[in-house]
Amino acid sequence: MEVITQATAEQAVKLVSRLIEDRVKVKPGAVLGLATGRTMERVYAQLAMSSASFKECTTFNLDEYIGLPSDDAQSYRHYMWEHFFSKVDIDIQNTFVPDGQATDLQQAATDFENAIETAGGIDTQLLGIGVAGHIGFNEPLSSIMSRTRDKCLTPKTREQNAAMFGGDANKVPKRALTMGVGTILQARELILLATGSAKADIVARAVEGPITSMVSASSIQLHPNCKVIVDEEAAGCLQGREYYDFVFANEPEWERYRQN
Ligand code: GLP
Repeated sequence: MEVITQATAEQAVKLVSRLIEDRVKVKPGAVLGLATGRTMERVYAQLAMSSASFKECTTFNLDEYIGLPSDDAQSYRHYMWEHFFSKVDIDIQNTFVPDGQATDLQQAATDFENAIETAGGIDTQLLGIGVAGHIGFNEPLSSIMSRTRDKCLTPKTREQNAAMFGGDANKVPKRALTMGVGTILQARELILLATGSAKADIVARAVEGPITSMVSASSIQLHPNCKVIVDEEAAGCLQGREYYDFVFANEPEWERYRQN
């Protein structure tokens, strides 16, 4: 794992966007794993302004609320359309979001896993992190081996996401269909982005704490190719900063990204 701290959220977002752009330039038919949440809105805005073409890409989103119609303004399918798919040249047929409206959720989960496999697996998976420590909607006690399935959200997550539902946590659906931790760990590369002081504690627990299903984001420690990009505020509780900064300042792979 590498942990890169940028001075501002804007710089952290730009770095993540550049990494994605570069992946797509090297492999135009890249399979991208996408994330939602407020943090990612800025990444999509940045990517939409870039010169990268997503024409040949296939995308898989991490999660979707159960029970919200896909044209509901709060559904993640709608979020993706609004922030990204409508702004770039991607073929909408090649964009996959778990089907939270399916009558048979287990079948929808299996279909989603099969589609990832048919696409050849995910090359680069973008991740945000929830204050409850989730990646996707893998709430505490999510097995590290878990695959795509339905999951009950924690009250903490529903509070975190209440702002998108008019500030009312009770309006946030109680369940979601989410890629499992095991599904996420199968991607060939993980890029986790976190910004702001509210994420500082959970970022430190994910990066430096014990690997535990209580903080599903800590499972990224098991991944051989994982980058965590944070701003100063989100890096606030990290113990090993000195070494992480040294790696970024000295490793040749980061040279072209140092002047952001
Ligand atoms: C939702 C998504 C998560 C994401 C989180 C971060 O809960 N299901 O995948 O990590 O949002 O949210 P934000 O960026 O708004 O803090």
